[in-house]
Amino acid sequence: MASTEPFSPIANGRLPASAVASGTAQVVETTDVHLAAVNLRKSYRKGHLEIPVLRGVDLEVRRGEFLSIIGQSGSGKSTLLHLLATLDAPDTGEIYFQGNRIDNLEPAGRDVLRNRYFGMIFQFYHLLPELTTLENVLSPLMIGHGVWSYLRNRREMIRQATALIESVGLSHRLNHKPRELSGGEMQRAAIARALIANPVMLLADEPTGNLDGTTGEEIMQVLRSLNRDQNVTIVMVTHDDAIAGQADRVIKLREGRVELGG
Ligand SMILES: Nc1ncnc2c1ncn2[C@@H]1O[C@H](COP(=O)(O)OP(=O)(O)OP(=O)(O)O)[C@@H](O)[C@H]1O
Ligand SMILES: [Mg+2]
Repeated sequence: MASTEPFSPIANGRLPASAVASGTAQVVETTDVHLAAVNLRKSYRKGHLEIPVLRGVDLEVRRGEFLSIIGQSGSGKSTLLHLLATLDAPDTGEIYFQGNRIDNLEPAGRDVLRNRYFGMIFQFYHLLPELTTLENVLSPLMIGHGVWSYLRNRREMIRQATALIESVGLSHRLNHKPRELSGGEMQRAAIARALIANPVMLLADEPTGNLDGTTGEEIMQVLRSLNRDQNVTIVMVTHDDAIAGQADRVIKLREGRVELGG
């Protein structure tokens, strides 16, 4: 399912305008390291207090890898994932995707990256409350394509979204709104939404965190099969050692740095 289209070359931290407009460009993948973080530092400011969270994080994620990041509550796992997804910027340090620097991208470049290459599963789902399951799953396509293109291709997109919703076991809840879904069902809807644009990389924040053991295991099966059968690279944050252990590799965040591996 993962897009085979390589990421666009970036000059001076900007995507070429043509790539932004079309979402395409040729390149040149020079490395098996899909995503790399170099000496990431991030502090939050609270009044005149500065709270250092990440104090020099280095990590590499290889293409096709399933990586878990563990660490205690408050250790900076969500902060790190948000930086990797370019939802927030590090104070210092660099992030590379397919060899191209992404932490300093212009907003348009970040939009292309997140719409076409990355799928994100959030700790608290972040589904849009007024939309049904089907509409939530379709929402990245509506945003990514623009109104006219979406309307022209609507029938095909609905077919894709419906198939994806079925693959995560939620076809009986197509027209339910988030408040009418259980936690596990909301997480499945969020996974389907993260996958609708065929991302090459999935960034998942506690995808099983709010679920009972059996439901959590079902979600893990969905993620493992995505990684194994569709070669989607996955970075998953969790505080649960047993869940983390199902990945290819586990690294631990401690005192703002990577303690093991990386
Ligand atoms: N916007 C913010 N402003 C101030 N402090 C923040 C902000 N966001 C996070 N923090 C602090 O940064 C630290 C790391 O938060 P983060 O959410 O990354 O932790 P986490 O490892 O994901 O924790 P959990 O396992 O509970 O989800 C915490 O101490 C938190 O209080
Ligand atoms: Mg968190």
